[in-house]
Amino acid sequence: MILYKRAVDISGFVKKNTHVGKSIGFVPTMGALHQGHLSLIQQAKLENDIVICSIFVNPAQFNEQNDLRTYPRPLESDLPLLISTQCDLLFLPSADEIYPNGLNSLKHYDLGYLENSLEGRLRPGHFNGVVNVIDKFLEILKPDRLYLGQKDFQQVKVIERLLQITRQPCQCIICPIQREESGLAMSSRNIRLTAEQKVHASVIYKTLSFVREHYKKYSLKELQSHAISMVHQAPETAVDYLEFCDAESFHIIHNWNDAEHIVCVAAVKVGEVRLLDNILL
Ligand code: PAJ
Repeated sequence: MILYKRAVDISGFVKKNTHVGKSIGFVPTMGALHQGHLSLIQQAKLENDIVICSIFVNPAQFNEQNDLRTYPRPLESDLPLLISTQCDLLFLPSADEIYPNGLNSLKHYDLGYLENSLEGRLRPGHFNGVVNVIDKFLEILKPDRLYLGQKDFQQVKVIERLLQITRQPCQCIICPIQREESGLAMSSRNIRLTAEQKVHASVIYKTLSFVREHYKKYSLKELQSHAISMVHQAPETAVDYLEFCDAESFHIIHNWNDAEHIVCVAAVKVGEVRLLDNILL
């Protein structure tokens, strides 16, 4: 694996290879890698000549300085994991490399209602920060395919919107959620859970599975309040939201007939750790 820290260098490497017809798959991450990230790289390996992974804890998408400061950065264990998946290139830029003019010069993208609903509403500016960094990466790397996890469903919708706005000829590939044996969706933030909290957190997937099995037997409102109270039965849990959305437009729906494909999305705090999960019904 080749490690690049500077945009000009990696972009030069990529250009040389795309000129001779090589395809590029790109997996953006913030590090603290787990099987969820690696599954994206594995998928990208199957479909591209060259796979690039980036590790960049993007300051522009954090609303809380404390969250940014405490975000795990275990590079020494990330590197062997990347090598074991046969990732070809790692892009590991500094914040100055990505934001030479600092965070005050971020672009604003019109993400429509996606920006202010659910995650967007609770984390103002978060998605604008995500699309700023992804747009930069796409400009530098010009990949053929971009690999994203269904785990962050709204983020996928936001990045699809970015691709529409900027008309980039890059295909978005959405990869399934990787879970622990307990059902807990893998996440870099899980490191911050105690062993007990991990057990409590498995209630999220149990609840989402219950929702998928029973959704037509109840009205949406009934199932929603039942699901929320199911989560709250586990200690130390607080539901930020548990909503049903149109899986295409991501509009919140209020009746089962409001959408053809439905996704149930949830954000739950377990202790101090905020976890996201979702399930397609
Ligand atoms: P990060 O949280 O590191 O996630 C990187 C990618 O891995 C995202 O596409 C995410 O959806 C995917 N992922 C995380 N957990 C997963 C799981 N359990 N199963 C499958 N895929 C999973 O998301 C970000 O970083 C950042 O916002 C980023 C897109 C890199 C922009 O800074």
